[in-house]
Amino acid sequence: MQKTLIVDALNADTAQDSVRICGWARTRRDLGTCSFIELNDGSCLTNIQCIVDNGTAAQAALGSAAVGAALSVTGALVPSPGREQRWEVRANEIVVFGQADPETYPLQKKHHSDEFLRGIAHLRVRTNKYGALFRIRAQAAQAVHAFFHKRRFILVHTPILTGSDCEGAGEMFRVTTLPSGEKNPGKDFFTRQCRLTVSGQLEAEALAMGMGRVYSFAPAFRADNSNTPRHAAEFWMVEPEMAFTDLTECMELGESLMKYVIEQALVHCEADLRLFDNFVDKGLLTRLRAILAKPFARIAYAEAVRILESSDRHFVFPVVFGMDLQTEHERWLAEEHFEHPVIVYDYPREIKPFYMRCNDDKETVAAMDILAPRTGEIIGGSQREERLDVLTSRLRETGKEPDEYWWYLDLRRFGSAPHAGFGMGFERLLMLLTGMSNIRDVIPFPRTHGTLEF
Ligand code: 4AD
Ligand code: MG
Repeated sequence: MQKTLIVDALNADTAQDSVRICGWARTRRDLGTCSFIELNDGSCLTNIQCIVDNGTAAQAALGSAAVGAALSVTGALVPSPGREQRWEVRANEIVVFGQADPETYPLQKKHHSDEFLRGIAHLRVRTNKYGALFRIRAQAAQAVHAFFHKRRFILVHTPILTGSDCEGAGEMFRVTTLPSGEKNPGKDFFTRQCRLTVSGQLEAEALAMGMGRVYSFAPAFRADNSNTPRHAAEFWMVEPEMAFTDLTECMELGESLMKYVIEQALVHCEADLRLFDNFVDKGLLTRLRAILAKPFARIAYAEAVRILESSDRHFVFPVVFGMDLQTEHERWLAEEHFEHPVIVYDYPREIKPFYMRCNDDKETVAAMDILAPRTGEIIGGSQREERLDVLTSRLRETGKEPDEYWWYLDLRRFGSAPHAGFGMGFERLLMLLTGMSNIRDVIPFPRTHGTLEF
């Protein structure tokens, strides 16, 4: 018999003589006349209650199956007398696919800390919280695609294996097939050094300079040593790139994207988000709605520095013009000063990558970061340097060999045009959406410094 997902069974319009539900037992209670099993199949937060009468064939088949067991339950979908759910299943046939030994199954019905669950990432998706989290993640990804599709951006797939360092921060993972000890890159698979990409931007620029508006949504890899709750070694980035435009449109796009994803999550993941509002981050829903309610603040970097300098907050890193803003500064600006996301633009040239467009003041570049309360930087982007001579000298200034960027420079030799784009850290956005404070808990199998389990 065909299976019904629990989400569909719970939303059924009418009772049904026979449905078949498959899932994992979340609870089991044995009473004098029957057993109650709460079943969950991951399709939604709510369990469906199954009632198995004593002395029936179904109960014999159920046997001693306990919390964690995988079951198929066939029976009538009937109105539930309980207030919590509309429908329940009166079982008349049960198949136990797999038992879970109550002595050793780690997910007994009690509170488990995020740290504990991280150690069993292969099982944590069976908890209410992580099921909700990964459904919100899926909905957010759908919303990203819907947003760009509506705006006629073309999805592009940029390479994961690359020879070029986009950010120039030297935080790349090397990829090699050379036996250990062999150092000659000429003998390697690609006969040259190969790395995992830190960003698809340079290739996205090439594609935008022919297709106009493109975006990629792909994994990025960074070997930064910073063991923080905001950095993962493998994370997902959304990178739109637009030709014939400037920094202002880029800011507008970033703000609209963030708002659209939040709005869609509020519409489609209401129950899942409510769990986070109740148990993870009180006030989350109010805060998300407030983000939608008014435009993001916008300030130049110089102004941000002035505001930070005149604040009476003690920062671990004192603020001076020319420094990169640290998470403590980003969070203070968004969380306490503006109490709203803020777009900081026109950063000092010295602290930003070679590809950002130099402003006329020769001191700053047309960069923008979107900073959010609690999370800090979620989006980083810029207008790109479209002038061949300026870009070439920027490459030299930042210690790069222009010849190695020959194809990137070609984009400025042939039909160059103003263009801009950004990268949005998808996990950072999920942290904002769920109130989770550690990036390790918004990606199913996190890869961070010193950890490569699963
Ligand atoms: O600011 P970033 O480094 O910008 C770029 O990589 C540009 N090439 C993007 C572009 O313009 N196309 O990274 C973009 C975003 C950051 O704002 C942050 O949200 C996220 O990527 N990010 C990370 N997320 C998780 N773990 C890390 N280690 C991250 N590094 C950056
Ligand atoms: Mg950045």
